[in-house]
Amino acid sequence: MSVEINKVGVVGCGTMGSGICEVVARSGYDVVFAEMDEEAERAGRERIERSVARAVKRGKLDQGAADDLLGHISSTTDLAGLGDCDLAFEAVPEKLELKKQTFAALDQVLKPEAILATNTSSLPVIDMAVATNRPDRVVGFHFFNPATVMKLVELVHTVATDEKVVESAKQFALGLGKVAVPCRDRAGFIANLLLFPYLNAATRMYDQGYALREDIDAAMQLGCGHPMGPLALLDLIGLDSAYEICEALWRQWRDYADAPQPLLKQFVTAGYLGRKTGRGFYRYESPESPKIADAIPESEGASAPDFGMVGVVGTGLMASGIAEVIAKAGGEVVLRGRSETAIDNAKTALTKSLERAVSKAKLEDTDASLALARVSTTLDFEDFAECDLVIEAVAEDLEVKSAIFGELDDATKPDAVLATTTSSLSVVDLAAATTRPDKVIGLHFFNPPAVMKLVEVVRTVATSDHVEERCSAWVRTLGKRPVRCRDRAGFVVNFLLFPYLNDAVHMHEEGYGTPADIDAAMKLGCGHPMGPFELLDIVGLDVTYAILESLHEEFRERRYAPAPLLEHMVRAGYLGRKSGRGFYDYSE
Ligand SMILES: NC(=O)c1ccc[n+]([C@@H]2O[C@H](COP(=O)([O-])OP(=O)(O)OC[C@H]3O[C@@H](n4cnc5c(N)ncnc54)[C@H](O)[C@@H]3O)[C@@H](O)[C@H]2O)c1
Repeated sequence: MSVEINKVGVVGCGTMGSGICEVVARSGYDVVFAEMDEEAERAGRERIERSVARAVKRGKLDQGAADDLLGHISSTTDLAGLGDCDLAFEAVPEKLELKKQTFAALDQVLKPEAILATNTSSLPVIDMAVATNRPDRVVGFHFFNPATVMKLVELVHTVATDEKVVESAKQFALGLGKVAVPCRDRAGFIANLLLFPYLNAATRMYDQGYALREDIDAAMQLGCGHPMGPLALLDLIGLDSAYEICEALWRQWRDYADAPQPLLKQFVTAGYLGRKTGRGFYRYESPESPKIADAIPESEGASAPDFGMVGVVGTGLMASGIAEVIAKAGGEVVLRGRSETAIDNAKTALTKSLERAVSKAKLEDTDASLALARVSTTLDFEDFAECDLVIEAVAEDLEVKSAIFGELDDATKPDAVLATTTSSLSVVDLAAATTRPDKVIGLHFFNPPAVMKLVEVVRTVATSDHVEERCSAWVRTLGKRPVRCRDRAGFVVNFLLFPYLNDAVHMHEEGYGTPADIDAAMKLGCGHPMGPFELLDIVGLDVTYAILESLHEEFRERRYAPAPLLEHMVRAGYLGRKSGRGFYDYSE
């Protein structure tokens, strides 16, 4: 029995319920929402009105359309008020008993053909379905937050769902302008099963004092292009909802990565539920306000003296990119390569990159010429004698890098700072190859350095405060955002990113989703600029494999062990874009 949907009901008008009402009413449907009591009903209506007013203020909606939208929404405190709906969503808190009761009660008041949809993020839909007399007419219809903005709906069918019901729900989602990705009924579906272990790891990282709140968020925004950092995202999701989602994932998967972090529990107990209560990881100007009131201003670090001449070791993409960034910011650079040919290649890459910037009107022609003139080259470490800072950017090999640090220690002034761009080795191993471990630091630039704003500034147990401050201040003079962290595998970005990529490979390997569906879910549900498989193919499967291995070696957690499928693809030579084939085929 397919259903013509005219009127829609929503139970619970909190963060998600209010967004669902707005999206549905915007498409011209009549919507009625049910809340627990009159106070919650008023709060729900105000939440919708605030959001619609924001849309008008931002010019996304004109006043007439806003009035029309609000005119489509009515409310009640009695579920019987949803009796004439063709489709009813539940968006009550993420507690299975509450959702089962809600569905059992809805089943009593709705007409027999009406469809029941749950917005659960992590609970088994089948458990709610069997609480009704119409398990065949129950689907999961998982919107993403904010429901008005995010394009994705995970459309979940259970073993009992009628295909025609799934089709009606799919058509309804399309009518709302959403993309429906089909999912089988298991905790977390696609997006949350990949997202929450990542959010949990970020919470743990923050709780351990590994990096500052703002730094963790900035690192993921600037390093991965995410619209929000993980801690700000948790505040948006609601820490109580996040806690319950983790709890449900943990119950199904018994995986430590899903277990809610103790800090989350403490926030929830204290009533710090995120934006909705005005306080979570951040404090907000008022409940429901997106404006952060307690932002820690980025320290200026102005007292630190700048570096004069800077040396760069290496002739690859990172080395030439870093030399370019420094020269564009007005610094003198000496670039050292192993052969004339390698140096010529690096200079050509640098020149081309500057020319590209000029052709895109991002750089004046004369500034490009001046920048190029500031880069000299050499075959000898001795030419680093006048440098205040030398950055090593050669192959990711401990022996090679250690030998270079030994050479640099001999060739440079005793007070020169020595930095490595390693993304997976221990900086302290390189410090140990010198007689000045207090002046050795990690400066992890991201690829391509000319474009990426982030630099992780990695201190070891031996690095002096002064050197860390000086390097952070210098990074700022390059127009980059320094993120300070300590010396352990993965630093901030790779530690959070690569296990997530690995989880995506596992998910595909288990047959739960195709790369295209999983990519769509993460792009449309979380606003990521690329899905995990698109990113894997760009980063390179061999590089991913090596980074996961180094994370696994350091932390010994099963989660970091590369997925078997990844290993097999590397062995087959399917390395991603660079080899013409990875998770996608680039041969055409
Ligand atoms: N917050 C997110 O980012 C997000 C994203 C997707 C899905 N979800 C899911 O959506 C659901 C709702 O989450 P939320 O974040 O909107 O929670 P919320 O706490 O913001 O809102 C829940 C609302 O339900 C109301 N409610 C509670 N019991 C009720 C009852 N018996 N009858 C009617 N109303 C009742 C509450 O008054 C509240 O307004 C959960 O299943 C959650 O997992 C949340």
